[in-house]
Amino acid sequence: MIVCHCNHVTDRDVARLVRAGAPDADSVLAACGAGNACGGCKPLVRLIIEKERRLRAASPDEEGLDPQGSISRCEAGRASDDESTCA
Ligand code: FES
Repeated sequence: MIVCHCNHVTDRDVARLVRAGAPDADSVLAACGAGNACGGCKPLVRLIIEKERRLRAASPDEEGLDPQGSISRCEAGRASDDESTCA
């Protein structure tokens, strides 16, 4: 799922950077380019980072990626204040 439309960054790009050891949200944003235009994606990127870290903490020996993608549409809507994506 594309999370940054300005720079065509996906949730998997963000999750990959967290798994690679990016130490904080600013590092992830700088590395993938998300957030450097309109900035509207920053809350969603931060949500993905938190979720990926929780997955890694729960299963440190596994890849960490949720098989359905790193974030649901409902969670993405909440991050952008659009609750209409939640059933
Ligand atoms: S959507 Fe990411 S900077 Fe605009």
